[in-house]
Parts: sequence; C-alpha cells; structure tokens
Amino acid sequence: MTKRFDDSIIYPISGMKAPNRLVLAPMTNQQSHPDGTVSEEEIRFLEMRAQGEFGTVATCAMYVTDDGKAWQGQMGLSSDRFISPLRKLTQAIHRHGSLVIAQLFHGGSRANPELTGRNLWSASDIFHRSSGQLIAREAPETLIEEWITAFEQAAIRACEAGFDGVEIHAAHGYLIHQFLSAATNKRTDHWGGTPKKRMNFLLAILKRIQRHLKGKKIVGVRISPEDFSFFTGIDFDESLQTAQLLFESEVDYLDISLWNALKKPEKYPDGPHAITYFANQKVGHASLIRTAGEIYTREQAQQVLHLGADLLAIGRAAIAHHHLPELWRRDILPSLPPYSENHLAAQGLSKPFINYMKRWKNFVSETEQ
Ligand SMILES: Cc1cc2nc3c(=O)[nH]c(=O)nc-3n(C[C@H](O)[C@H](O)[C@H](O)COP(=O)(O)O)c2cc1C
Repeated sequence: MTKRFDDSIIYPISGMKAPNRLVLAPMTNQQSHPDGTVSEEEIRFLEMRAQGEFGTVATCAMYVTDDGKAWQGQMGLSSDRFISPLRKLTQAIHRHGSLVIAQLFHGGSRANPELTGRNLWSASDIFHRSSGQLIAREAPETLIEEWITAFEQAAIRACEAGFDGVEIHAAHGYLIHQFLSAATNKRTDHWGGTPKKRMNFLLAILKRIQRHLKGKKIVGVRISPEDFSFFTGIDFDESLQTAQLLFESEVDYLDISLWNALKKPEKYPDGPHAITYFANQKVGHASLIRTAGEIYTREQAQQVLHLGADLLAIGRAAIAHHHLPELWRRDILPSLPPYSENHLAAQGLSKPFINYMKRWKNFVSETEQ
C-alpha cells in the first residue's frame, strides 16, 4: 500500500497515535530563558506548528545535566524545577491533537564551559582540531554511570511534564555520538574498543529509559549514519549494525539524520538511497524509520516515504511555513529560502531565533522584501 504523508500513524511499541507522518524536526532555537526554562516565545513557535497540523512536534535538544549545556537559550530538563513550566508547552501542543516529544541531549566535548563553568568530558581525551590543545578529558566509569542516570531522570521528568515520549540524541557530534565514533572513542573497557562496545553507552541509556517508558510512552533514537563535516569515525555499515540493535531493542522509531533525505551513502554512491538500507535492515521489526533533510515539497515527501521512511522530520521548511502540512494537502507549493525577517516573524520566530537563523546559509534574506 502506498504510504501518504497524511496517513495517521501508530508508534508501534508505545501504541501512541499521531494524526500524520509529519514531525516538526528537533530544532535548537535559542528562545529559552538563560536558566533553561521554556519561554512563551518557544511555546508559541512550537504550538503554531501543532496548529499547522504537524502530527508530532519534537523539542530542541534539551540538556540532561547542567554541564551538558552547549549554547545560550537552550532548554533544560536537568532538574525537577523544569517540570512545571514545561506542562504549559505540552498542554499547548495537545490542544491541537499533536504528540510532543522531548529530545534528550548532552554536549560532551561540545558543551560550553563558558555557560556551565565546568570542565569538559567525553568518551576519550579530545584535542582541538587546529591547536592540538586538550579540550575534553576521558570520562571515568563513575561519570559514565552518572550520565546514564541523568538521561533516565530526564526521561522521567519529561513524562511528568506531559510529553508523549523522548528522543535520545545520539547524532551530530554530541556526547553519545562521541562514544559511537571510532575517532573520538579510544577506550578499551566496556565502553569502547570494538564497534559493538562503542554502542554500549547508547544501549545502556536506552535500556534505562525503556525500563520506565517502554510500552507506555514513545522512545526514539536519532543517529548520524556516516561522517559529516568534521564529525568523523562513523562507518555506514557500523551504523546499520547500530540500527539492528536498536530495532531488536524495540525503539518506537529510529531517526537517520541525513541532512538530505534523498542522498546516497558516501560509502556506496552507486547503491540504493541511504534511507533504503535502513528500511531493509528493519524488515521483521516493528520500529518506524524517520529521516530529515531538505524536504520542501509534497513530491519530495512522497519520494522519501517511497524509499522506505515511515515518518518525515521537517526542519527549515517548517520554520518558514508553520502550516506546511496544510499547504501540501491543498497542493500549494511552499516558497523556498531565503525568507525575509518579516515573513519569519509572522511565522512565530522571535528576534533571537531570527538572528540565529542568519547563521544558516541562505535562509534569511539580506534585504527586506
Ligand atoms: C535551526 C536548526 C536547529 C537544529 N537543531 C537541532 C537539534 O537541536 N537537534 C537535532 O537533532 N537536530 C537539529 N537540527 C537538525 C534538524 O533536526 C534537521 O535534521 C535538519 O535541519 C535537516 O532538515 P531540514 O533540511 O528540513 O532543515 C537543527 C536544524 C536547524 C535548521
């Protein structure tokens, strides 16, 4: 049966139902208060996407310990004080019939010591790419255990705040990715040494979270399936093995973060599309597959579903068009970047978020139109 972007969908392990296959991608928007609590601006931005018919809304990456915070305006889930303000966010999303998922994050060597006042730790010692200076030290086992507990506690808090589930952020060069990568994990203990052991940190976090959430709330994982930019040490075939273990662990969904949903793997440029490898790997398992990257039109969305995805996470097109699902339903072609500041303000972006988007090439137009 042909999948359609507007099919309703059930997250298979939790049984939660979303009105369609479209997800607002997790996106850092720097709109939280300096102490990490959610702001009215952030709630407004996210609620507009639920109102605009995104079936599932993901939050930005939320830090699970204070020393994992990586940027100004990031939202936190590192203590109980965050729970009550977040209820306002989850209620706002639920009012429109969408599901809402908290993305759980730790920056590892990419946390910001100027914001946290703490030293940086990672899987192994990490040296600055150009100066060669030591920037993060290898974590002792006790700290690894603390991190696992911090992810678990954050997941419990997310449930208390009314979220429908959590997503473990294991992509994009942050802490869990630093454990998965052969370039940043040189350990020889339980947490590294072989590809399988490099996956142990992610699997330990997943297991601890599932102890509380499995079968009741959504539990998803996001990975980067291969090297990108300066984040190296991730092999495509190893990522397929990671996926296999995650499917066997019965995640509700696995997000393959491709940045271009229609790309072929760098390792196999003449093979099928990257997403198809993961869809083939999943055969016989219940989990859903999600991906994201440069999806602006309904045709592109349908093509990515055809290639094997079950859920589509939409990032920049959803920033620019809060009601993108409705545009697609009515067969209206959304405008493409760049966008004027006025347009983005009308789409619910506050000034700090618009300024942040200026760092994304060709997204905000230089001159007002
Ligand atoms: C402004 C911005 C912030 C982002 N922040 C996050 C984040 O907090 N967590 C995450 O996993 N991905 C993050 N991403 C990646 C998106 O979730 C998405 O995978 C990526 O933008 C590709 O989709 P797109 O081409 O539709 O934008 C961010 C992307 C953008 C544009």
